Amino acid sequence: MSLKPIMPESLRAKLREATHHQHTQLNNHPLLSGLMQADYPIENYYKLLLAYDRLYQVLEEQIIHFIAQYDANFDYHSRLKWPLIKQDLGYLNIAPLQAAPSLKNPVINSIGQLIGVLYVVEGSTLGAQLIARSLEKHHGLNQTKGGRFFYGYGEETQKNWQDFISFIETLSDQPEQCTQALDSANQTFNYFNLMLKEYLTIIL
Ligand code: HEM
Repeated sequence: MSLKPIMPESLRAKLREATHHQHTQLNNHPLLSGLMQADYPIENYYKLLLAYDRLYQVLEEQIIHFIAQYDANFDYHSRLKWPLIKQDLGYLNIAPLQAAPSLKNPVINSIGQLIGVLYVVEGSTLGAQLIARSLEKHHGLNQTKGGRFFYGYGEETQKNWQDFISFIETLSDQPEQCTQALDSANQTFNYFNLMLKEYLTIIL
């Protein structure tokens, strides 16, 4: 009888498994779930951008701060997404909310926590490619007209994702950091879910 060697599961595979339920829950949120249909009310897109304005500001401030302090070997500056949201809000003439809901946000104090947050933020660019096509098709929004954030990395999306995966796999042999990454990714998905819930009910 020959025994197959047991391959250690990659950190990416563990992250995907650990957050699968939360990803599904997020996709089903009313501000996101209808995005790929023609009858999606455009007000929901405005609410979504306002929620994202808050989410990406908070998360990217922490990402940049931690990478600079820890000297992590990952260039996030070229990946910043908050300025793209600002660009869309400006184009659509939507003012940020004066009193944004203050929810407990994930904190980044370790490389594991950085990877957990980055996993969610970078992963969000994958589904965004599908959304970008629908925004253009059904609402005439594209990268120069209010759809810059969802256009994201455009043709560079898969390459950027693969580069990110290569970066996180350097951590696969550090169990403590992997545990923190899984925990942090779940907290980050939860943060998205809670923030979208808050913004669903705002009156524009
Ligand atoms: C309607 C909204 C969304 C749809 C339809 C969607 C769809 C998808 C699809 C199709 C993939 C796989 C892409 C590929 O393997 O190339 C994916 C991956 C992913 N998405 Fe989403 N997504 C949505 C929203 C989000 C949001 C809001 C986030 C995070 C804030 C997110 C986080 C992720 C992550 C982390 C992955 C990577 C999973 C892996 O490790 O393979 N998604 N999404």
